[in-house]
Amino acid sequence: MVPESTPESSTPESDTPTELAAPYGSGPVSPAAPIKRIRTHHLQAAKNNGTKFAMLTAYDQYAAQIFDEAGIEVLLIGDSAANNVLGYETSLPITLDEMIIFSRAVSSGAHRALIVADLPFGSYESSTAQAIDSSVRLMKEGLVHAVKMEGGAYYADTVRAMTAAGIPVMAHIGFTPQSEHALGGYRVQGRGEAAQPVIDDAVALAEAGAFCVLMEMVPADVAAAVDAAVAVPTIGIGAGKSTTGQVLVWQDMAGLRTGHIAKFVKQYADLRTVLSDAAKAYGDDVRNGAFPGPEHSF
Ligand code: KIV
Repeated sequence: MVPESTPESSTPESDTPTELAAPYGSGPVSPAAPIKRIRTHHLQAAKNNGTKFAMLTAYDQYAAQIFDEAGIEVLLIGDSAANNVLGYETSLPITLDEMIIFSRAVSSGAHRALIVADLPFGSYESSTAQAIDSSVRLMKEGLVHAVKMEGGAYYADTVRAMTAAGIPVMAHIGFTPQSEHALGGYRVQGRGEAAQPVIDDAVALAEAGAFCVLMEMVPADVAAAVDAAVAVPTIGIGAGKSTTGQVLVWQDMAGLRTGHIAKFVKQYADLRTVLSDAAKAYGDDVRNGAFPGPEHSF
């Protein structure tokens, strides 16, 4: 079980970066003062100390619980729930209300990870007030600790206002899936002359107060330049290995989905086969009368 939080006055939470490692996973355990909850300053400490952290998406309580207990430092309720849970082709149709439901489920399952939720398409573009209102709903009703927002330097003033309002913002630059129609599909961003604007976006958003910059599908050398240009931690997905953290969609990481697998994905399990074999065995048992047995009957 995850250790219960104690009041901050009696046991201050540690910010020692070596303790960022998982208490349950394969990382070293600090017996002295384990982190009760990963905070944004722990991610900053990782950047300062040259250590790495892992982020996975989660959309439900069991995935959240399993990844939290495995020591994943950051859980993201991605708007990729649109594709990976709700079955849409893109992330665009998911609503703020739906994101709040997924966020509550993840928040109830995870007790150590920093929990971040995406601002979905249409929930922040109109005005700073809309971005703040939507973020407040995610934090108040979805119980998340921070929000992630897609977009570049154009949103620097919005990020500044959100940060001033007490909303920790993770910036998402490079390929931004909510703009896939504007960008002409899933394409690597920041190649050649397009590299400098990616770096400029990161610098503007970090200066505006973003606690972290996530980059999706940018060349590894450009991601390295972004990481060097900003003091805040960076997270990559298809952005090489120079970033402070890495993120994957959990169904990609665990091999649940079929079809095209992006180049940046590494599958650590074949969950689709595991579940399919279990379902087939259950179906066979029901059809041939092996289930339920006497041990399952009252
Ligand atoms: O929605 C999402 O899952 C994301 C990624 C960065 C994984 O934004």
